Amino acid sequence: MEHKKFQMDYITLHTKHTTYQMGITESGFLLHLYYGPKAQGELGSLLTFADRGYSGNPYELRDDRTFSLDALPQEYPNYGNGDFRSPAFRLRDDSGVFGTDLRYESHRMIPGKYRIPGMPAAYAEEESGSCLKETRNSKYTAAYTLEVTLTDARTDIEVRLLYGVFPELDVITRCAVVKNAGNSTVFVNKAYSMCLDFLTGTYDLIHFHGRHAMERNFERIPVISGTQSFGSIRGASSHQHNPFFILADREATEDFGDCYGVSLLYSGNFKFEAERDQYCQTRVQIGISDEMFDYRLEPGEEFHTPEAALAYTPKGLSALSHIYHRLIRNHICRGFWKNRRRPILINNWEATYFNFTGKQILSIAREAANLGIEMFVLDDGWFGKRDDDSSGLGDWHVNEKKLGRSLAELSEEIHGMDMLFGLWIEPEMVNEDSELYKKHPDWAFVIPNKKPVMGRNQLVLDFSRKEVADFIFQEIAKVLDSIRVEYLKMDMNRSICDVYSALSGYQNYGKIMHNYVLGVYDFLERLHARYPRILIEGCCGGGGRFDAGMLYYTPQIWCSDDTDAIERIKIQHGTSFGYPISAVGSHVSAVPNEQTGRTVDIGTRAVCAMAGSFGYELDIGKLQAEEKAFVKEQILDYKKYWNLIHNGLYYRLHNPAKDREAAAWLFVSEDKSEALLNMISLDTHANAPAVYIRLKGLDAEKNYLIGDSGNVLNGNVLMHTGIAVPFHSGEYRAWQYHLRAL
Ligand code: GLA
Repeated sequence: MEHKKFQMDYITLHTKHTTYQMGITESGFLLHLYYGPKAQGELGSLLTFADRGYSGNPYELRDDRTFSLDALPQEYPNYGNGDFRSPAFRLRDDSGVFGTDLRYESHRMIPGKYRIPGMPAAYAEEESGSCLKETRNSKYTAAYTLEVTLTDARTDIEVRLLYGVFPELDVITRCAVVKNAGNSTVFVNKAYSMCLDFLTGTYDLIHFHGRHAMERNFERIPVISGTQSFGSIRGASSHQHNPFFILADREATEDFGDCYGVSLLYSGNFKFEAERDQYCQTRVQIGISDEMFDYRLEPGEEFHTPEAALAYTPKGLSALSHIYHRLIRNHICRGFWKNRRRPILINNWEATYFNFTGKQILSIAREAANLGIEMFVLDDGWFGKRDDDSSGLGDWHVNEKKLGRSLAELSEEIHGMDMLFGLWIEPEMVNEDSELYKKHPDWAFVIPNKKPVMGRNQLVLDFSRKEVADFIFQEIAKVLDSIRVEYLKMDMNRSICDVYSALSGYQNYGKIMHNYVLGVYDFLERLHARYPRILIEGCCGGGGRFDAGMLYYTPQIWCSDDTDAIERIKIQHGTSFGYPISAVGSHVSAVPNEQTGRTVDIGTRAVCAMAGSFGYELDIGKLQAEEKAFVKEQILDYKKYWNLIHNGLYYRLHNPAKDREAAAWLFVSEDKSEALLNMISLDTHANAPAVYIRLKGLDAEKNYLIGDSGNVLNGNVLMHTGIAVPFHSGEYRAWQYHLRAL
């Protein structure tokens, strides 16, 4: 093994606390050298060289058997140049041959942050446009772009790697643009958004898996020899796996240790791969899934991968979450509602399901208005022939018979109660039993001569076809134009299968799933442009499309169809690693809970729902007088604390996998002058020892007044010993303490 001195050029990116460096060898190979704490200098001497058996050598270096791309860290590994680990990029030419040899061509620094046409991307400054507002935290805004161009001599393919550097945020974004600069058709068979190679280190992979009604469970597993992979081929980013992962040092905790985060801004099929290679080096990568992906590029055409946002901190998982919370809140979410307090809403879904009349809706709204709730959201069932989930989707005509009035009248009556009005839509879907399907059966994804797989009695509309998305947009816009409406819940209630577009030829099929996502993004962009003041909440059977890509269009997402407060603790805990609290739609619902049958008191339900964008989802008139009084208080509390909750630093104070006695979380203002502690008791025991919750992120020097108890404790003591969960009887009690620095 030798440490060689050979000629290399370097490209280095610095953020406030991190450095990212790549090296260009004389032959034009782009190697990845370093990503970690801030560093100076040229780091080529980190590389080691040895004659590696069965790891080949590039032709021009064939006399030097110590140079093998199979062992060296790569910036954007491509299949065919002798690196036999999983590639980030694979291309097939029109004669069916795989294999490229991408070499460095040039690079340049560009002021400002790149954008990606038709796709979400973190921005430094919001565009001045009808729907877009000034960024509040200007200190986070300075950003620049690095563009590195690689080319393949055989196919004339050009790959431009784009890096968006946010120095103050300690974030580097990546994406790739593939251009067919040759004369014949090629197929991009795999094109990930990023790859990170580590020369050394023993890492854990933290990822967030789940199922419908139990999304984003935290799992921490060692990166093992071989390849570990997860992802989605469901057409949405999915309930089952989330396109956000963390690579953490084995020793890293919430408060300490090397943590790398990667968040993919994409809402469709994706794949993650971690690979520990034969020399114990680690590679992690993420991007559009290569399953059923084969993107045909004609001469002159370009393909853009989605963006991945990378962050590194040596300060543990909490600090990593804080980076992503700031990034998403200030540089991914957009529009009028981005930094505003979201209206406290009531949604009728769990109160009525499909079975409602206009009169019932108005009565729920009136009760809610009396308690101080600010917006009424009319969920599924207001259109077409839609009295259950077997019919009506696709027919966006108001069912005035069911409402007993026009939707405009209903909305006006609700506004007359001093409430805003919101509406549920599910534009991407169609029931077979609908006027739309009868008229345009070829608009749905159905494979000829095969019975389609059904999901919730519905089929998926082919949003890769512009005329399909256009028609649905016009139909929904007709409704929106005819009423006063301040909010939309945009749902998507099945996975995509039977991918067949009646419009495209077979050779285009490797594009459809991606083009579908582009169609959805375009639909959302048009909603933004036309209705800049409407708050859009994303939804996909709860949190089945909860990703940073969606958050570019919808600043909040219904976190889960599971509204049980105790289940939500776990779901919201997992969600908090990569996503800000403001993004989490969370409601107080009825007991016994509709999903689990569990009964917990209304205080506990509210404390859990307040860790998000807060609302109610029940027939509120059915509450006891005492509970209604609590609701009034909860609303006042939320208004008082929302800024701390949405913009403060969030600390997880318990680990659901280990801590059986209590769950707790804390919001601390950036200046540490106030905090909001939330504690829920879990298992109860007779004659139990006291359980202390240790706080985090406070000012060690300051004393804090705890709620209205009159008790004062020093910040250091609160972080060292903590606050005891009060003795109580019965499980699932909640306490919320506001702490003020004196
Ligand atoms: C999905 C959503 C629910 C509700 C229903 C309506 O399941 O997650 O909140 O809107 O659809 O059909």
